[in-house]
Order: sequence, then C-alpha cells, then structure tokens
Amino acid sequence: MCGIIGYTGPLQARGIVLLGLSQLEYRGYDSAGLALFTEDNKIYLQKKVGQVSELEKNCDKSIKSHCGIGHTRWATHGGVTDANAHPHMVGSVTLLHNGIIENYHTIQKQYGFEGLTTSETDTEVAAQLINYYYQEYQDPYLAIRKSIDIIEGSFAFCIMFNDIPGKIFAVRNVSPMVASATEQGSFIASDVTALIPYTRSYFVVPEYHILTLTDTAIEMEDMKGNRVEPELMEVSWDVEAAQKNGYPHFMLKEIYEQPEVFQKTVLPRLLGGIPDFSAEGIPDSILEECKQIQIVACGTAMYAGMVGRAIIEQKLRIPVTVSVASEFRYDTPLIDEHTLVIVISQSGETIDTLAALRLAKTCGAKVLSIVNVKGSTIARESDYVLYTHAGPEIAVASTKAYMVQLAVLYLITGRMMYVRKKASDEEIREFTSNLLSSTDTIQHMLDTISQKVRTQAEKIAFSTDAFFIGRGLDYAFSLEGALKMKEISYIHAEAYAAGELKHGTIALIEENVPVVALATQDHVFNKTISNIREVKARGAYVILITKEGVSVSDDVCDIHFEVPVKDDCFSVFPCAVVLQMLAYYTAYAKGYDMDKPRNLAKSVTVE
Ligand code: M6R
Repeated sequence: MCGIIGYTGPLQARGIVLLGLSQLEYRGYDSAGLALFTEDNKIYLQKKVGQVSELEKNCDKSIKSHCGIGHTRWATHGGVTDANAHPHMVGSVTLLHNGIIENYHTIQKQYGFEGLTTSETDTEVAAQLINYYYQEYQDPYLAIRKSIDIIEGSFAFCIMFNDIPGKIFAVRNVSPMVASATEQGSFIASDVTALIPYTRSYFVVPEYHILTLTDTAIEMEDMKGNRVEPELMEVSWDVEAAQKNGYPHFMLKEIYEQPEVFQKTVLPRLLGGIPDFSAEGIPDSILEECKQIQIVACGTAMYAGMVGRAIIEQKLRIPVTVSVASEFRYDTPLIDEHTLVIVISQSGETIDTLAALRLAKTCGAKVLSIVNVKGSTIARESDYVLYTHAGPEIAVASTKAYMVQLAVLYLITGRMMYVRKKASDEEIREFTSNLLSSTDTIQHMLDTISQKVRTQAEKIAFSTDAFFIGRGLDYAFSLEGALKMKEISYIHAEAYAAGELKHGTIALIEENVPVVALATQDHVFNKTISNIREVKARGAYVILITKEGVSVSDDVCDIHFEVPVKDDCFSVFPCAVVLQMLAYYTAYAKGYDMDKPRNLAKSVTVE
C-alpha cells in the first residue's frame, strides 16, 4: 500500500518521480505528491487528491531539479485530502511514508506535538520526531536512529533534510523498499517496477538500515553506524512485462498472459514427467514426513489454497487446513514441527501473511512459500521458496498469479504423491501431463469465449447481487470467482456451497438474480444440477459451466459454457478464465477502471 520513489542524479527529477509514481500507482491511488530540491536548493512541494495525472497537471513544469521524492497514497490515517497526502514537511524535514505508525498518538503526547500538525496522518508525527532530533543533534543519522528507536509499526521512509540538498535518506521496517545506484543516478522505490526503465540491477533494502542516496552512490549503514554492502539482484523480466502492450487494461493483458506463465511455472519443474524441486533446494523430507499441512494466505492467494487443500486431501489423504492470515496470526494454531506450513503470496509483502509465517516458525513448523516477487520479505524469511513465474502483476485484481499459485500447488501434490508412494510413476506422469496440458485448455478458453462472456457480462452488469455456486472443487473455484466479481464490478457477489443455499441464502434469489453455477465434478454433478434447478425455479438467471460434452436440458440454465477437461481435478484452470473474464467484462460494461478498483491497493502492507 502506497508507492514511494526517490531519485537523485544528473537527470531531471520531476519527470523521473512522476513516471515512477505512475508505475507504482497500483499500490495506492487516492492522492499523490512530490517534493523536489530546486536549483536554488529550496524544496518545491506539491500534493493533490486524485491520481498521479492530477498531480502532474498541478506541478510547476518550469522547476529544474536533480533530487526528489514522490508518493502515491492509499489512505490509512486521515481522509483523502491534499493535506493528508505525502510528503509532509516539518521544520527541516520533508518525509514520505508507506506503512502505519502504531504509537503515533503516544509520541504526539510525549513530545508535545499535539495541535502542531497540519494533517490527520500518523506520518506527520514521524516528520515531527525526526525534525525534533535533527534540531537537537544537527546530524541526520542520529536524528533518524533516535526516531526509529521510538517509532513502532511498519514504515518505509524517504527523507530529505532541507539543508542537505541533493541527498535522500531512507529506512524501513516491514514495508518494502528496493534501491539501485546507476550511472544515471541513485533510485529508491517501493518495488522494482519503478526502477526497470533505468536498470535491471537492484537490492532489497534490509530492515533497520539507513541509506544515503547521492547522485553517484548509495551508502548503507546499520543502526550502529557500521557500513553494510548491499546484496545485488537482477530483475528477471523485461520492461515490456510491466506495460499494457496494446491491451486496454493490465487485467486483460494479464488474463491473456496465463498460458505462457503457466508453462513457465510448470515445465522447468518436471523431470521425466515427475515434479522435481531439487534445483530449488526443497528437500523431499518436508513433503514426506509432515503429518499435516497448514496453508495460510489472504484473498485470492487464500482461495488458491482452498483448491490446493481439496487436491492434496483427495490425492494424499492427509489433513490440510486453510486459514486466513489475518486470523491465523492472532490464533494459537494447532501446528508443530510435524506440520508443513505453505504460505502463498503474489507480492511476498502482505503483512498478515508475513506475520502468519513468523508465527508458524515460532511453533517449529517448516515454512514453504509460494511467492511471485523474487527477494520479497516472505520469500526471504521462508525456509523454502517455490517461485511462481507470473512476471509483474500490475492489475489490483489478481489473475495470472492465481493461476500459477494453483499450478505450484498441483506440482507439490504431484511430488508428494511420488515421495509418499501414493501412486505409480505412470499415474503421476498422467497427473502432470494433465497439468501441463491445462496450458492448452486455458488458451482454448481465451481463444473462444470472449464475445460470449462479454454478452453475459452486459446482461448482469447492473444487478445488485450475484451468486457463485458449486460443490467440492467447484465451490473452491467459485470463491475466487465471487471475489473477482465484487472487487472490480462492485456487485455484491457471494460464493456458496451449492447444497447449502437452501439453508437460508436461497431467500435472496428472485427474478433475474445472476447465479454462476459450476458443475464440473462428475461425482456431484447430479446433486449440483438439482441445486441449480432450485434457484432456476425461483427466477435466477443461471450461467452454467460444465465439462465439454455434458448434456444439460435447456430449462436448467440461461447460458452454458463448456470447458474441455478430461480429468475433473483440472477443471479449475479453464473455469478460472471464464470467471476472470466475466468479472472483467462486467466492470468494463459499467465503465469502471478495473486496474484500480475503489478502496483497494495491490500490495497490502498494513494490518
Ligand atoms: O500479494 P498477496 O498474494 O499476498 O495478496 C493477497 C491479497 O491481497 C490479494 O490476492 C487480493 O485479494 C487481490 N486483490 C485479489 O484480486
């Protein structure tokens, strides 16, 4: 949440900061601001409610600057106003922040800052505190160190001292930050998307280290003042991967990228047709010896986990629990050294998921994470990591990341079947061959359904409610379908186990209420069809998804989508495409910006 960028160097900082902000805008987009050192070493500050384009319109284009910081906000403390937008300037300090300062109220009281603020934010208190110590010591490092000792919570700060032109100071705890010193100057940002126009080489800023960016270098020291060398990494994707490349929205582009990223995620992990993680240093023992599996994640990643649970329990017959990370982290979970904890996160920065991971480790469990962003905090803190190869996912609504999270969960299942001897090699090869050929079923859906989905989306776009129903695995996918629909189309969408509707929720079914019914599982097919008839009888508009070739009488549904799968276990992949496109075209029909849905942000780094 919130995107931050800083630059100092020979190029014009205003353009770099604005471009960086537009690339980070998916992290938060209710207001934006920047601060630039001008040629006469004054600070030019501008902040505006709205998207980065609004800030750009209001920026003085004649300003020449070689050093600046910028912020795009997702409000936590204080409403969406110009005053609450970052940066905040207090005395000699101009500062911006991603995170939450939990003890800001105590600091305000203790230091007598109350009544002296111009905003309602927790951030301004950090600026006050650093300024307070800067006035006392006249030393930026001491001022930052003293303040960081006092501040509790999560933060990534970029700080400029008004009497130290050309330099940016930065420090973080939990909230992400990456940096790079290049021939074109020094850059710092919330994530690498803002850096790739200039460099592929970067480093993850370690927690509680102070960085000083100058036009030629970045120096880093720990809290004791010892110099620390950064560990450099390389971005593994091209700059085009973070562009729309002709698509009207990132979300649509990312939906269409799915066959490619699916194959990239699965293929290199097959050895003689058997899933193999030895190249990634994952020992078979963690898959072989665990007595139970605990999956922890948030949102879409958690829904991928629900599918993973169904598949693992079905194929392995070992207990799997799926927990929402924000609940798990404050529970006393029943896990120990015999539990394998699988943590799933696209960003690798979701704060609740990170806290859940840390808790799992304190319980003695081994943590295997499924993460998209290389070098992210969750990846670094896990015992083992399996990266998904989705490339950058920019749209707030997750699509391709979900698909590859599922792919990795299926690979883990296949490997566990192998090491636990739950199936013959032949059977496992057939399982992985079905997994791999899901690339084709995903592609087939992309090639064939878009017009049909679009027509349906236009039909349901102005409904108030929608229901997604299914049994077993179909129920697990429908959860994600409902989330996708509600987050970008703002239709109240609920997923229900098809057999459970009649215990209350069916009261909400009336004439033309859309019901997206998934019936791809043979063993419960007839039961699901009966449940669909129950809603149809009450006037629902039924969009049915079944396997190809299944005969369904005309009175069961209003429209029928067929997905080409041989084995029921793999129907999630083509079904997900239908559900994603339905959500996308519904939001499209309503004229919404599905890349930046209201109230949301891509990376949830606050509790
Ligand atoms: O980065 P993560 O996978 O940890 O993010 C978890 C959720 O915030 C995320 O999946 C969210 O639900 C998506 N916006 C859904 O499309």
